[in-house]
Amino acid sequence: MYNSIKLSESVDWVGVNDKETDLFESLWPLPEGIAYNSYIINDEKVALIDTVKINYTDSYLEKVKDVIGDKKVDYLIINHMEPDHSGSIKSIREAYPDVKIVGNAKTMNFLEGFYGITDGTKVIKDGDELDLGSRSLKFYLTPMVHWPETMMTFDQKDKILFSGDAFGGFGSLNGYLFDDEVNVDHFEEEIRRYFSNIIGKYGPVVHKTISRLVEEIETIEMIAATHGLVWRKDPAHIIEEYDRWSQQKTEEGVVVVYGSMYGNTKIMAEAVARSLSENGIEDIKLFDVSRKDISFIINDIWKYKGIVLGSCTYNNEIFPPMEYLLKSLESRNLRDRVLGIFGSYSWSGGSLARLQSFKEKVHCDLVEPSIESQFAPRGDILEKCYLLGKNVAQTVKEKC
Ligand code: FEO
Repeated sequence: MYNSIKLSESVDWVGVNDKETDLFESLWPLPEGIAYNSYIINDEKVALIDTVKINYTDSYLEKVKDVIGDKKVDYLIINHMEPDHSGSIKSIREAYPDVKIVGNAKTMNFLEGFYGITDGTKVIKDGDELDLGSRSLKFYLTPMVHWPETMMTFDQKDKILFSGDAFGGFGSLNGYLFDDEVNVDHFEEEIRRYFSNIIGKYGPVVHKTISRLVEEIETIEMIAATHGLVWRKDPAHIIEEYDRWSQQKTEEGVVVVYGSMYGNTKIMAEAVARSLSENGIEDIKLFDVSRKDISFIINDIWKYKGIVLGSCTYNNEIFPPMEYLLKSLESRNLRDRVLGIFGSYSWSGGSLARLQSFKEKVHCDLVEPSIESQFAPRGDILEKCYLLGKNVAQTVKEKC
């Protein structure tokens, strides 16, 4: 067992690892777990930065005590009020009754609403600084990355950016903490799955925020987010990744997703995928939307330029799991993809019309033919599927 981990002489990680929660936000599977990172700055004044989910309060308080002994916590800085980070605020206040809770005006609204706390607070504005003795902290308000009250805190002495959820990822910390202690390639999928599902909707705001931080902060030695690795060897790497994803910049490759009750739509999807392969696409992902959690599908859609969506019809409408995926992509403002669509039905259409309305809601280039098949797909339909695959492959290659 390990407790705190040093980031610098006066800054420690005092976070916890969650391998027990199955669904983050009761939505997103956590096959690799997740970390809730909190940090403590032990200067003349002591400042805690964010807390941890309520389930882990006891071990969290032990870690804090291990670092500061009999000293008290002077400030609790709240970069983000989502309960995976704010869940231990009340316990910190009980353990350290004089602690000043530091946040912006919006933070205070959440603080009262979630925990009934209205006193012992300090409201800061964008650009304000807080003196801890040998260093001062500077605050950057970053609304909608990804909640209204989100902000970041910069330690101007050690040049550590405590960034809240930004630059974080899924996956617990299995003994390691820093990017130079692991092969970061191994984490890319879970970081992008976190970004695309949790933060991706706010891409334009994230891009604007990153541009501002890069312009205003001359040197960032470390990025310490509330989830995932601390980036000290190559903080520019995670900044570049987040910036790229926030702008929906993609790679050559195609994600084919189908919804199929009895296998007929699946046959069409496999024909499209075979054609993609014959036409030079090496990265092809083929998903059954009923059986793959959509967070993994959205992760790959965030990576690749091409998407082909095919669905059967169910009660005159599109197949319900496909509807969930379409709504999720629409709400994330998907754009700049090469899109192919096809639908199937037995006694009434419906799925292709919904896929066409999806096309109208996202800013993607539709590649023809759009295909609608009745009953089992026969030769002429499969020829169209091959043509769709060929046209998607060519358009993806032209645009990448
Ligand atoms: Fe990790 Fe938005 O909470």
